[in-house]
Amino acid sequence: MYTGKARAYTNIALIKYWGKKDEQLILPMNNSLSLTLDAFYTETSVAFNENLTEDQFFLDGMIQESKQTKKVTAFLDLIRQTYQVELFAKVDSQNFVPTAAGLASSASGLAALAGACAQALNLNLTDTDLSRLARRGSGSACRSIFGGFSEWQKGSSDQTSFARSIDANGWEDELAMLFVLVDDGVKDISSRDGMRRTVETSSFYSGWLDSIDADLRTAKQAIAEKDFIKLGEVTEANGLRMHGTTLGAVPPFTYWSPESLKVMQLVRDIRKNGLPCYFTMDAGPNVKILVEKKHLTALKHFLAEYFSSEQLISAYAGPGITLLSMEGSENS
Ligand code: ADP
Ligand code: DP6
Repeated sequence: MYTGKARAYTNIALIKYWGKKDEQLILPMNNSLSLTLDAFYTETSVAFNENLTEDQFFLDGMIQESKQTKKVTAFLDLIRQTYQVELFAKVDSQNFVPTAAGLASSASGLAALAGACAQALNLNLTDTDLSRLARRGSGSACRSIFGGFSEWQKGSSDQTSFARSIDANGWEDELAMLFVLVDDGVKDISSRDGMRRTVETSSFYSGWLDSIDADLRTAKQAIAEKDFIKLGEVTEANGLRMHGTTLGAVPPFTYWSPESLKVMQLVRDIRKNGLPCYFTMDAGPNVKILVEKKHLTALKHFLAEYFSSEQLISAYAGPGITLLSMEGSENS
């Protein structure tokens, strides 16, 4: 039996990954840039075991059906193929993040699984290797290998597509992200299906791709200059543009709910009142607000009029992946 365990934190993209050019290898159409967060994470242990006759995936203590297990089994198949392992595995994972609610459980989940497998099989991977491997589980997972800001460089092959850390000279520690949970239920259209439909059918998709280089340049410049407003403006604009592509898909769809729109408008109002903050959204109705740490309390105070404290979750920049011993203590 080979066992391993890892903890990985979610990341939220400021410049989004939206669309694949290779579904099999998970090569993205565009680079993306994210902030890894401390509030939401996954811990996963894996045991490759000669007594198993199929893979088993337990999430939060409950055995998962095949639909939920698809990404996990596909990933374990890849591991078996690449590293000549012939055993099935039991995966035991704990999400300290709502699953499939647009809060990036697939990023922390698949990064943690990649780390646990690497540990179990003693693969001795560099962070770059691990990022490449996590990418095969879920694209956004490749960014969760790193703490703080990271950029996924799209590359053009399995070897050249991976994330790397962006050095912000500690600026990430001055930032916060407030999650406004308007709905933590499972979404109807997964990110994988949503981006596929958009790439295949949306007449707005080419406009999205055309805007990426400029957005990335602006975001990286803002990080280098520690310019919060510049980073916020490009984050909000890029997220809106990504969501715009879904409206041009056939059939059209949106991840926004009336509550999401309400939060967006509140953010605009709060900004008008002099508090700089900017929203972004992923494949679900929950809204994330980028804000400087020093303004977080005031921001929460404004929003407390409309949302309960359970709906407002603060996050700060988080660490990269941690490999754990099976007892839970940190190995590296
Ligand atoms: P999210 O917005 O939460 O990332 P996605 O639809 O992109 O939602 O991905 C959700 C899927 O990710 C789940 O259905 C499951 O297949 C996978 N997933 C979530 N958490 C884990 C985990 N801890 N371990 C393995 N896979 C996970
Ligand atoms: C909107 O990484 O979950 O959150 O690669 O198909 O597993 P797959 O998709 P996933 O998509 C994330 C999409 C996003 C934007 C982002 O995180 O960059």
